[in-house]
This record gives sequence, C-alpha cells and structure tokens, in this order.
Amino acid sequence: MTMDNMPNDSTAGRTGNGLDRLITDRPSLPRIAVVATGGTIAGYSSDPAATVGYTAGALDVSELLDSIPEARKMADIVTEQPFSPCSENRTMNERFVLAKTIRRFAANPEIAGIVVTHGTDTMEETAYFLNLTLGTDKPVVLTGAMRPATAIGADGPANLMNAIATAISPDAAGRGVMVVMNDTIVPARSVTKGHTTRVDAFQAIGQSIGVLANGRPEFLLTPTKRHTTMSEFTELDESIGIPQVDIVSCYAEMSEAILETCLSCSDAVVLSAVGDGAFPRKLHPLVHALAGKMPVVRSTRVADGPVVRNGELNDDEYGTIAGNSLNPQKARVLLTLCLMKKMNTCDIIRCFGEY
Ligand code: SIN
Repeated sequence: MTMDNMPNDSTAGRTGNGLDRLITDRPSLPRIAVVATGGTIAGYSSDPAATVGYTAGALDVSELLDSIPEARKMADIVTEQPFSPCSENRTMNERFVLAKTIRRFAANPEIAGIVVTHGTDTMEETAYFLNLTLGTDKPVVLTGAMRPATAIGADGPANLMNAIATAISPDAAGRGVMVVMNDTIVPARSVTKGHTTRVDAFQAIGQSIGVLANGRPEFLLTPTKRHTTMSEFTELDESIGIPQVDIVSCYAEMSEAILETCLSCSDAVVLSAVGDGAFPRKLHPLVHALAGKMPVVRSTRVADGPVVRNGELNDDEYGTIAGNSLNPQKARVLLTLCLMKKMNTCDIIRCFGEY
C-alpha cells in the first residue's frame, strides 16, 4: 500500500503494519533460539560500498540482533554461536554439531522455533542436511545475506527479521527445514543459490512454499518428500565416521583422470552429469567399474529437472543410481547419510525417490 491510498486513519503506518500486529497479537513473547554460524550476514567492510572482498563472519550474533531492535519486541531471543568460518569450509562434522545444538533447543518446551544464520555459499547443503537429520517439527529456519552487514542496502537485517517472524509463526511447524531469503520461504529440498551476488539469489527448484509481506509469513504449500520427523536419518552422528563422497563435474571431452582418482580415493561418487544424466560414452566402462566398487549417483549440472532411472543410461546394467530431482550438492548430502546407515543399493535407490 502506498501513502496515497492509505486509509484516513491517524494510526495507519504506525500501529497498522504487520510487525505491530505480530508484536501486539501475542500475550507473551514466544522464545526462539538464533544460532549463528558466520557468513556474509555477519560480514564487515570499512567501505560501505563494498559488496565483494569484505570479511565474512566478522560480527557477533549480538551485533546482528542489535541491528534489528524490533526483533526483541517480537520474540524472546536466546543465542548461540558454534562457529563462524565462511561456509565454503563447512564440514559434515560441523553440520552434525549444528544438528546437536538445534536438537537441544528443540527439546526445550519453552523454545518455539530456531533460526540459523549461515553463509549463503553452502546454505542449501546445510539446510537439506538438517531437513534429513532433525527429528523435530518445530520450525527451523535458515537465513543469510548477499551483502555484508556494513554495506549500503544490506539485506541481512530484513532477512533475519523475516526468519524470526517465520520461526514464531504457528503455521510454520511441520513443514521441514526452510530457508528465508528476500521475502521468500523455500523448503530445504528445493532451495538453491542461483546468482553469485544479487539479493534475489535464492530460488526454489519447483516452488517456494510461502512469502513474507509486511513482515508476515504466509504459507501456500507443504513439502511432500520425507523430512525431519519422517526421516530415517535422525539417529546418525559423526562418531560413526563420515565417508568421502565426491562430486565429479561432467563435460564433453572430459578425461578419465578424475574418475580414476575416485576409484582409489572416494567412498561414493555423484556425477554432475550433462542434460538428464548423460556423460561421454568413452567413460561408460569406467563408470561401470566405479559402480562395482562404490555407489555412483547420476545427478545433473542442469539447474532444474529430474534424472530418471534407466533413462540416459541403463542403471540396472551399470549399477548406477538416478539422482531424481536432487542437485549434485544435495545428492551428496543424501548419499553421505545413506552410506553412514550402511545401506545397500536398493535402499539408496529408495531414498533417492523418497527424500
Ligand atoms: C559464506 O558462504 O560463508 C560467504 C558468502 C555468503 O555468506 O554469502
């Protein structure tokens, strides 16, 4: 609504906005946890014009919350900061530590939801990992920023505010782990980073499940694939040992060298294949040999669309697994957890259909 078409009400614009409704609708404030893990949302540069070349993860979680004082009127917020390196360094081990932290908060009956601030570069993998390993139906919402906190037009404060509004929404429970960026609520399974710098970088492969307008979340869909309370991966932890699952990018004229290295160095491989799961014919025998030694999943470097079983390749004959509609980085997460559960090929195929 613009100022021109506002109702003639002296309180409009001061008490009539969505945020004020969220604040005053509630008799007591819901309590949430904000778990900070670094990233651009906590980025710092002495140059307010800098949107690249800043120091990510430089600010403390309390400094992030200080930039949005209204948040403390919406929710009673407890914080924790388990780590802060850039998310390109995020390990599976750290993801298990993060899951434990979130589980601890989720088990507390006073906590209504959990917000995780995270670097955007690998946020989609962490979100999907948590979607598969957290056995809670409390809202768990990841957010980040494309511009550092010190930048003109920093997007972090609005994203964090929206993530908190989503985490306290009674409608958010049971929808699995979500990513809130740029006024959009996207389920962990389908969220992906689609631009290197723009604030609208995050997209849904398929559909987002909700939007935020005026600080208020509105949910439109519920994810249908198995997640959180319906997942069989919630008992896993890092003490089992984390397998080395590698992603191999495919292209015309690719050499055998990388796949040959995988034969001796990897526990499983995800092919980031071309099109709907193809790769050069000369590599078919090598992939066959690889799949005889370890699980090999065919995913695709194409942004959207499925890799269908026995489509581009006869998976039954080659021993490979079609990645369905998971992108390579998420296929890697699911495959890692399948290996940790010591699943056979049949069960891994089932999981790539169900999750
Ligand atoms: C990171 O992923 O940690 C740095 C980049 C970002 O947060 O956008």
